[in-house]
Amino acid sequence: MTAPGDLAVDNVRTLAPYVPGKPIEELERELGIQNIIKLASNENPFGPSPRAIEAMQRALADSGLYPDGSGHVLKQKLAAKLGVTPNQITLGNGSNDALVLLAEAFLAPGFEAVYSQYAFAVYPIAIQATGATGVRVPALPPESPMHLGHDLAAMGRAINERTRVVFIANPNNPTGTWADAAHLEAFIASVPRSVIVALDEAYFEYTGGLPLQNGVEWLDRYPNLVVFRTFSKAYGLAGVRVGYAVSHPSVADMLNRVRQAFNVSSVALAGAAAALDDQAHVAAAVSVAVAERTRVSALLEKSGTRVIPSAGNFLLLHAGANARERFEQLLRKGIIVRPVSNYHLPEHLRVTLGTVEQNDRFLRAWL
Ligand SMILES: Cc1ncc(COP(=O)(O)O)c(C=O)c1O
Repeated sequence: MTAPGDLAVDNVRTLAPYVPGKPIEELERELGIQNIIKLASNENPFGPSPRAIEAMQRALADSGLYPDGSGHVLKQKLAAKLGVTPNQITLGNGSNDALVLLAEAFLAPGFEAVYSQYAFAVYPIAIQATGATGVRVPALPPESPMHLGHDLAAMGRAINERTRVVFIANPNNPTGTWADAAHLEAFIASVPRSVIVALDEAYFEYTGGLPLQNGVEWLDRYPNLVVFRTFSKAYGLAGVRVGYAVSHPSVADMLNRVRQAFNVSSVALAGAAAALDDQAHVAAAVSVAVAERTRVSALLEKSGTRVIPSAGNFLLLHAGANARERFEQLLRKGIIVRPVSNYHLPEHLRVTLGTVEQNDRFLRAWL
């Protein structure tokens, strides 16, 4: 007899699951060591604002009640900050949830969705789960200054009459690569209005002077554009899961139809709303990440480790043929980084920028 799981639909049975970073507790159990640092999931080493923690603690008292399914308070605040209307915002259980909602609402068997080789792993999973066909476009070649990045011209050529969505991460994870704003806008302008452009800005806050876009400013010009943002990175709230999509109201209406009524918890809603009120906390964390991005890259390059240019809070390193061994050596020293062989990058490792002390510890172990 086959296992009951084999009764699942074909496109789900053949899905390669998302591989998360190794949790600290797991390594503690395996090695029996303490003082582990995790530089594996692009989290913010400073965590959330104390104001967000306080608001979440207060929200716990009411956790016997369902959350506000419309996320009224958070949407009002976000709308004011972003210069959009609340009916343009769809809240998600992390931006991952919002990305999945987009796939559910706009894809089905017979349709295609275009994404780049080495793009964030959630896109092909979300596409395939709907039964639509994912069209993976080769990344920019080694001779390009943005090697491993999205080849927007080739992605444009991959769009046809079956295409419903094109996914762009700018910057991308796990590569850190980006397209500059002018180039990206020219691409979006060239995409037919019958195709949704899903622009993932999970690392929006970490631009640090690089010429990246604010996709929300383009929404009026491109009604087929959907911008995704998250509280998981710069806002330090990865554990409570809040992200959102900003779009034309008619797209938000569709996303809300497939959204679970209570997809964002009351604790998460309270934490995110309070986090928005503490921009100083966000700015401080971002300024450390941006400064460390330059410092750590330079030290690695100086010692002969090739670093892919990054506009995120992480670096992709070319670790060479023994990348797996180097990952395991780091683990034994209590440092968790991220292998990216699931992205078919077996010679690379991704390292999240931590505090200065954490990065120094990584550098001592690496160099
Ligand atoms: C490019 C990108 N998009 C989306 C996400 C999803 O983040 P979350 O669901 O925590 O908002 C991540 C997380 O690593 C990411 O790197």
